Amino acid sequence: MEKHHIESYLSEEEVVERIKELGAQISKDYEGKTVHLICVLKGGSFFMCELAKRITVPVTLDFMSVSSYGGGTSSSGVIKIVKDLDETLEGRDVIIIEDIIDSGRTLSHLMELLSKRNPNSMKLCTLLDKPDRRVVDVHVDYTGYSIPDEFVVGYGLDYDQMYRNLPYIGIVKFD
Ligand code: IMP
Ligand code: MG
Repeated sequence: MEKHHIESYLSEEEVVERIKELGAQISKDYEGKTVHLICVLKGGSFFMCELAKRITVPVTLDFMSVSSYGGGTSSSGVIKIVKDLDETLEGRDVIIIEDIIDSGRTLSHLMELLSKRNPNSMKLCTLLDKPDRRVVDVHVDYTGYSIPDEFVVGYGLDYDQMYRNLPYIGIVKFD
């Protein structure tokens, strides 16, 4: 690992506050429905747990894990399902929960793939978005924070699998 340090960017209080707002918005938008949250592992897990707690309409949860071919720091967008969903999406009101949208490649492939499973509706919710990095157009329905083009960690986000457990969002600064 290159020598680096972490600079605090969004405090735990700020993140939790924003997630409460998203939860309230989703509860309003899905009134009278059951919302089916799909967590994209591993990065989306901390966000999904916190968000699910703030949603007041009935919630069901499922998890999936994808990896993009090619590895490295940028995704190729050609995704492989590492762990598929346990349940069907047929007729459900689905929200995909992501940690961050960067190029948009992963999400555009994933949404294309999941839309073939006939959900009643499918929306996308991300904790963080780096719009400046977008290569593929993806429509994001709920965004926690739009951030500049920096490499961030914490609240589920990793740098080489480290720092997912930080309770805040930090920027990785290379020394
Ligand atoms: P995309 O296909 O380029 O949008 O890739 C999105 C994925 O790249 C996310 O789910 C993260 O796993 C990873 N990623 C992108 N930017 C960051 C970052 O700043 N910190 C940690 N992971 C990131
Ligand atoms: Mg990831």
